[in-house]
Amino acid sequence: SAAEKGGYDYFMLKEIAEQPKAVADTLLGRIDASGSLSLDEVRISPSELREVDKVVVVACGTAFHAGLIAKYAIEHWTRIPCEVELASEFRYRDPILDARTLVIAISQSGETMDTLMALRHAREQGARVLAVCNTNGSTIPRESDAVLYTHAGPEVAVASTKAFLTQLVACYLVALYLGQVRGTKWGDEIQAVVRDLSRISCEVERVLETMEPVRELARSLASKNTVLFLGRHVGYPVALEGALKLKELAYMHAEGFAAGELKHGPIALIEEDLPVVVVVPSPRGRSVLHDKIVSNIQEIRARGARTIVIAEEGDEAVVPYADHLIRIPATPTLLQPLVATVPLQVFACELATARGNEVDQPRNLAKSVTVE
Ligand code: AGP
Repeated sequence: SAAEKGGYDYFMLKEIAEQPKAVADTLLGRIDASGSLSLDEVRISPSELREVDKVVVVACGTAFHAGLIAKYAIEHWTRIPCEVELASEFRYRDPILDARTLVIAISQSGETMDTLMALRHAREQGARVLAVCNTNGSTIPRESDAVLYTHAGPEVAVASTKAFLTQLVACYLVALYLGQVRGTKWGDEIQAVVRDLSRISCEVERVLETMEPVRELARSLASKNTVLFLGRHVGYPVALEGALKLKELAYMHAEGFAAGELKHGPIALIEEDLPVVVVVPSPRGRSVLHDKIVSNIQEIRARGARTIVIAEEGDEAVVPYADHLIRIPATPTLLQPLVATVPLQVFACELATARGNEVDQPRNLAKSVTVE
């Protein structure tokens, strides 16, 4: 009913708007005043966590994209090798796991069949499984050794939004916690990130306040057939997520690419007026990534692409090559997905509406895939 949607036309719009709160709630009580993490609810002891020599993330769909981003954070902050795999692939493989492997199973619903089977597969081989889940008491956390709940609140729209942001937050918490208990050399950086994380909910709020031009842009593209998404580093999974949202909501051909792969094939797709969304990493931090993507934008624009550039405030280098510029607040590189994904959600939702599609219940899809 309209009341359930809190005055919004769709659950998806409501859930997009709830993201600052969802992010803040997921952090709540997990970072103490001194800036150290306490994840007591994660029932794997610090001594066991110190033994971990490999992390494997398994998930499906949007949760898998959260896992892809988690890999960058886990490897950077903990120096533990991390693999990320689609649960539907992992479960039919012979993965190399043992008691020192930490498997992270990410699932909003906690009922996704492939993710459940993947975690059973992992436990049979002695690995420990930590669930990152949004649904209390669901099957995946019940069958795991430990759980870190995301506190997004119920997500009703089939297209995942607030659950994704909170999955990222939960994965960052796990990565930082692993770093903390293992005393990695990134101690100072960990402290700084913890501070930045506690501010991120306000940054998401600011993004939401500036979405009207994104909606206008989406409406102007309603008759297009294809939209491409490019990113590098953590911007690459963000590009994949932007494309997935567009597929499921707008029923458009949408694909995400690692920008470095352009020359290895995808650039052949570029034609006059083809919309290409580019997620630009911060010019501070790893500036080499930034410079590379600016040349990628130049390359595709020279071939006729209509460039839709998502870049941090104050990044002037992209201005000459952006047909449309979407600004996001400056964040540390690893946290950028928390702000960069939001415009892509709004973009897909508005395109779906403009094309007359059912936003909350896209055709052929179910909220959780509990069948094989
Ligand atoms: C996202 O918009 C999708 N509807 C879908 O990819 C979803 O993320 C996937 O099915 C995984 O679901 P889960 O998080 O409940 O396991």
